[in-house]
Amino acid sequence: MTWRGVIAEHRESLPVTDATPVVTLLEGGTPLIPAPAVSDIVRRDVFLKFEGMNPTGSFKDRGMTLAVSKAIEEGASAIACASTGNTSASAAAYAARAGIPCLVVLPAGKIAAGKLAQAFAHGATVVPIEGNFDDALEIVRSLASDLGVALVNSVNPYRIEAQKTAAFEVLDDLGHAPVVHALPVGNAGNITAYWRGYTERGAGPHMWGFQAAGSAPLVHGEIVENPETVATAIRIGNPASWDAAIIARDDSAGRIDAVTDEEILAAYALLSERVGVYCEPASAAGVAGIIKHADALPEGTIVCTITGHGLKDPDTATARIDLPATVPATIEAVAAAAELG
Ligand code: F0G
Repeated sequence: MTWRGVIAEHRESLPVTDATPVVTLLEGGTPLIPAPAVSDIVRRDVFLKFEGMNPTGSFKDRGMTLAVSKAIEEGASAIACASTGNTSASAAAYAARAGIPCLVVLPAGKIAAGKLAQAFAHGATVVPIEGNFDDALEIVRSLASDLGVALVNSVNPYRIEAQKTAAFEVLDDLGHAPVVHALPVGNAGNITAYWRGYTERGAGPHMWGFQAAGSAPLVHGEIVENPETVATAIRIGNPASWDAAIIARDDSAGRIDAVTDEEILAAYALLSERVGVYCEPASAAGVAGIIKHADALPEGTIVCTITGHGLKDPDTATARIDLPATVPATIEAVAAAAELG
């Protein structure tokens, strides 16, 4: 089969017509990878929906293809977003593809290096602010409406609409619904989108969402003014899709809980060292969550969404290793350093 991208593959489930100019990088169609090392720990069959395999390395591309296509259809001449990094990388790439400018407003110093590099590489206008994601979103929402620019954060309904296609793919690949679908939660668009996708197909897994302990407004039931976590992608204190996330949790008889940075980094290491899947820290929150709550998992197949690729955040990875000393370029020196023979 030739994969044609999210809009062409799921056209009948999306708000497009023949007049919609499709802006695509052939996103979606990501693999559902068995994770035996995680299965051993939680004593269930666990699969990873590896969204890091999308064109810009995160699940954001799935919604961005529709958001940008509709923006063009509706006559927008530019797009804008606030971001913890991945949305800006994706928006910048799709804007480049469409040939329109892209403005991204970011929390200064809190964007993983790979994501920042992507925004610049694709030619976005980047404005770092002395504030967090929640401040950036408030600013860009107001600026976009003043400037008549299309806002492509997940408050844009087309984003969530197209992100729901990930649930369709899980159902098609498994041939049935998972009993639990676990994923990280930041601005809460993705949990909303999966739940929509599952319910449109009459499927009902329990949705288990996990926030970072220092950024867990949905768990505490109140806005977190100064969110903190190593998982910068989900460093969000006031999720835009708050109410929809609570509906997804309650209607699915699911849960939204917090996992600590230590639990996130332990799952991140487990995935890279024992499963062979390299993700960014935030992406490991779902796996951290099912490990934390393994005793509460019902019988059946578990799916965890791995939201972004490990190459997004090289600094978190390199901070965790002691780079070995450089040795002379000889066989003996390399053998000695590698402690061979
Ligand atoms: N995982 C990654 C890697 C993310 O980049 C995000 C969100 C999430 C999980 C959480 O998804 O917001 O739908 O609940 N990143 C946004 C951004 C906020 O700006 O890139 P969510």
